[in-house]
Amino acid sequence: MADNKASLPRRGFLKLINQVIVATGLAAILGPVVAFFWPAELEEVPSEPVAVGPVDSIPVGESKTVRFGRYPALVINTQDKGLLAYSAVCTHFACIVKWNPESGMIECPCHEGYFHPNDGSVISGPPPEPLAPISVFIEDDTLFIGGEA
Ligand code: FES
Repeated sequence: MADNKASLPRRGFLKLINQVIVATGLAAILGPVVAFFWPAELEEVPSEPVAVGPVDSIPVGESKTVRFGRYPALVINTQDKGLLAYSAVCTHFACIVKWNPESGMIECPCHEGYFHPNDGSVISGPPPEPLAPISVFIEDDTLFIGGEA
């Protein structure tokens, strides 16, 4: 009799633990599915300017990739034209492009697409269009991209 009284709370506790484990497992499985079908609201292109950092944070010949709405943007301090920004989404199959200071080109690693840093035009490879340019401006020693200049 004493064993039955003692085992009831333990049984209830084990049932509770089991339910917590099942709920955690379901959340782990369903969370990504829900996020896929109902992604967080992110603007394709932000309506407000995005701060990149201090104006001198990108030395000549270097770049910085920043979040720009739903997708990243690539900001390059070019030798010829100074600070320029482009969508970092390749116009072929939407891989993310990177600046290569050794080659002096913006490169897409997926299918060897190459873009010119001065205007985003296609140098070679399968991309059908240039990278989308993004406006750049400086205000109070801070570099911004996008929005109203
Ligand atoms: S996705 Fe960039 S070259 Fe194919």
